[in-house]
Amino acid sequence: MKEKVEQYLNEIKHFVAETEEHAEDFRLKYLSKKGIVPSLFAELLNVAPEERKTMGQLLNNLKTTAQNKFEQLKASLSQKDQVKKETIDLTLPADYLNLGSRHPLSIVRNEIVSIFSRIGFRVNEGPEIEDDWHNFTALNFPKEHPARDMQDTFFIEKDPDILLRTHTSSVQIRVMQNEKPPIRSIFPGRVFRNEAISARAHCIFHQVEGLYIDENVSFADLKQTLYYFATELFGPDTKIRLRPSFFPFTEPSAEMDISCFICGGEGCKICKNTGWVEILGCGMVDPNVLAFCDIDPEKYTGFAFGMGIERITMLKYQINDIRLLFENDIRFLRQFESAL
Ligand code: DAH
Repeated sequence: MKEKVEQYLNEIKHFVAETEEHAEDFRLKYLSKKGIVPSLFAELLNVAPEERKTMGQLLNNLKTTAQNKFEQLKASLSQKDQVKKETIDLTLPADYLNLGSRHPLSIVRNEIVSIFSRIGFRVNEGPEIEDDWHNFTALNFPKEHPARDMQDTFFIEKDPDILLRTHTSSVQIRVMQNEKPPIRSIFPGRVFRNEAISARAHCIFHQVEGLYIDENVSFADLKQTLYYFATELFGPDTKIRLRPSFFPFTEPSAEMDISCFICGGEGCKICKNTGWVEILGCGMVDPNVLAFCDIDPEKYTGFAFGMGIERITMLKYQINDIRLLFENDIRFLRQFESAL
């Protein structure tokens, strides 16, 4: 029996447990009710009385050794577990990176710029703070003319009048003053009007202006350029319609409608059942405007057009409230993530 105990002690000493199950095997083998330690204690009854004391001590020692070993196995396994948890697993897929997205107004502006740049238009910018001359006078708005009231102006200074530009048409003047024809350019930018903010109007919004000045530029050129633009932006089946209109800086002037891209002209809510939606103003540059910019109206002609980026964005993405474009609500902006 003594030898058996020594053999078990040796076995216990060298026992290794890789997993929880191994540790449990150990407990079952030595410490459970039918395990080695309790059965050795049961054998104690058969041992000669004079040896019982020493054997008892030996068995007690075996028991505590097995118990200690079991505790030790459990402790070292849970430590291993901890280490496993704290180790970085380089094979795990990375966390999702939120890249952000372009603002819908930027998406549409970029698209407009790209469409016109494909037919040779450049991009120019002008100041948002303008003087009366560039915003009105040189664009053929006579002093005291009621047409000035069409655009409720934010004035910064009176006499001389300094104001926030009410349209990007003022950039036409700056470009014509600085460059000689042929001029083929578009001017995207921010404009300001003293209007009450509602679902349909804002006091700050964006426009893109276009200008083409050369010898022999005709209304047919204007029409063809705008037709190309409309089909590029709204699809190849788009039709255009030009309606006579009035702007002081163009003669003749027109407003352009496109066939409704939602219902294809059948009539729906977007086109208010007319089959057409208005998207821009245009016309042949008034000879007075050319003269204001020292361009000879006898030699050169040209066309101009102007459109609101908000209006086109709202039509394209069917946004029913202009304020959504300025509130920067992330739930709204996220919807344009794929439209980069
Ligand atoms: N400036 C006009 C506006 O803000 C838009 C416009 C109309 C621009 C006709 C043009 C044009 O160049 O020819 O309402």
